[in-house]
Amino acid sequence: AQKIIIDCDPGIDDALALVLAHGSPDLEILAITTVGGNVDLDRTTDNALRLREFLGLRGVPVTPGSAGALMRPRVNAAEVHGGSGLGGALLPPPTLPPADGHAADVIVETLKADPGEVTLVAIGPLTNVALAVLREPRVAEWARGITILGGSYTRGNFSPAAEFNIAADPEAAAIVFGAGWTVTMIGLDVSRSATVTRAVVERMETMGRLGGGLLVPCVRFHGTITDDGGPAMHDACAIAHLIDPSLITLVPAVVDVETTGRFTSGMTVTDFAPRGRTPNALVGTSLDAGRFWDLLLDVYAGVAAS
Ligand code: BDR
Ligand code: CA
Repeated sequence: AQKIIIDCDPGIDDALALVLAHGSPDLEILAITTVGGNVDLDRTTDNALRLREFLGLRGVPVTPGSAGALMRPRVNAAEVHGGSGLGGALLPPPTLPPADGHAADVIVETLKADPGEVTLVAIGPLTNVALAVLREPRVAEWARGITILGGSYTRGNFSPAAEFNIAADPEAAAIVFGAGWTVTMIGLDVSRSATVTRAVVERMETMGRLGGGLLVPCVRFHGTITDDGGPAMHDACAIAHLIDPSLITLVPAVVDVETTGRFTSGMTVTDFAPRGRTPNALVGTSLDAGRFWDLLLDVYAGVAAS
């Protein structure tokens, strides 16, 4: 199985991504690190701890990191994810505490311990990953890869130009894109098609405690769900890509993060025809949504039955 670290800010779609990573035999979660994002760090960490116990992942350390951006005031997306961050899901409080230390150090140490073997998956603002790069630039060599859910080369969701995870900490994102590794950027261009349909919810409703206690109250929280679609489960796209790379088409590009624009701060300026510059990213351009949901529902059914 491919070893991964998940840096996240749960978050409804972060929760769906964690369940997918946990349930897939192709992935092994070495560490979960948390960042302030959708809701405050205390809550994203508490949610990660609740999810860990709900899923029976007691052996995987959960380590908190940055509460807010490197250089900017904090933002959040509580209106999308609910005050708790997990929509309508009410998971029992955790009985186990978070691990000691800082997420950035966990990222550095985990990558250093197993060079070339561990993939970093970041599905929240990139503050912890940037701090890891600043503390130890060789993480860019040690990581087997880095996949982020974030950015967009079409339109934003935080602003017309910027996607939430990048807009929440553009300076951090600029550091991550400039670190010397090739960032797999799965952005809104792709993840917007990962919408929950009525048929998806109906399948989830058959999934016992996993469905009734977590998946359904998460996906039902925001937006209407029809036969054609509903809210998008962005973060699960990054995990799905690792499990089955054929689901998302990737195109090499140079991505620059706008940090000073008056209207465009946090925009991922994506050049698919970089004259003379070496691509620093592989950018997702399309998703096979049918096969994406087939994969998720298969894995979720397996988790529900275990
Ligand atoms: C991203 O922003 C967050 O609200 C989601 O969890 C996802 O990581 C989508 O723009
Ligand atoms: Ca997220």
